[in-house]
Amino acid sequence: PPHLLDFQDWTPERLGAILDNADTMLQVLDRPVKKVPALQGLTVCNAFFENSTRTRTSFELAARRMSADVLTFAAGASSVSKGESLRDTLEVLTSYKVDAYIVRHHAAGAAHLVARYSGKPVINAGDGRRAHPTQALLDAYTIRQEYGSLEGKKIAILGDVRHSRVARSNAELLPKLGAQVVLCGPATLLPPGLAQMPGVTLTTNPKEAVRGAHAVMALRLQRERMSGGFLGSLQEYADTYQVNDTLLGEAESGAIVLHPGPMNRDLEISSDAADGPQSRILKQVENGQAIRMSVLYHLLVGRN
Ligand code: CP
Repeated sequence: PPHLLDFQDWTPERLGAILDNADTMLQVLDRPVKKVPALQGLTVCNAFFENSTRTRTSFELAARRMSADVLTFAAGASSVSKGESLRDTLEVLTSYKVDAYIVRHHAAGAAHLVARYSGKPVINAGDGRRAHPTQALLDAYTIRQEYGSLEGKKIAILGDVRHSRVARSNAELLPKLGAQVVLCGPATLLPPGLAQMPGVTLTTNPKEAVRGAHAVMALRLQRERMSGGFLGSLQEYADTYQVNDTLLGEAESGAIVLHPGPMNRDLEISSDAADGPQSRILKQVENGQAIRMSVLYHLLVGRN
């Protein structure tokens, strides 16, 4: 079956179809009755082995808006907390003969494992620091909504790149759609290997990263993934790399501000930038529902 695990085998045409179809889904979400029968009779399993607010709720709503039944599995409230393995947990879930799996897990490759094992379409909802493809799709969609196209756009992504599956998925996706990506952060949070990706450059200089950018994305400092020693101090980080009005002064006039969430306010992003007129952070959340409807439709109903 088709999966969305990362963007390795995805052509720009197929990616463009997902974005185009999200336009239709947004129209559905604008109606008083926000429900279509597209996935009637199908069951989607929302399998979250790691915490989430946006991704879990938007996938659940996306599936319900298209009339699918949703089985929500939250590891924290399950027998995983008693030591049950991923494999044994999957055996339980597959016994219910659901039609698709949405998987978030703290281990890179977990969604691939489910894809191999389940024989059903799998959508990666974030695996460790490896990939978070629907987040990158909603980011691309939000930028396209603003500028009409990604072609020739410069996208600056600042922060904890090392631990960020959002940065990796955007670095993979946005150049396929014609954009140029600049990843920026302190050297300790900026893996040099990412510079080998086509259309991606790295810099430790935030002004250089943001100069002429059409979109500026701040990434959360993932302190829960830092085993220590990555940062001098949080104040030093904020003084140099915080996305705020001063740094935004270097970007294209009217450049949009993005953050995948959850935010550490006044650390990687100032409240002024997060809540200001250039911010599209809540638009990202709104678009997330439409993108996830589009992805579910594409994998479960569309012909690939
Ligand atoms: N951006 C994102 O994945 O947020 P959640 O962890 O809340 O789903």
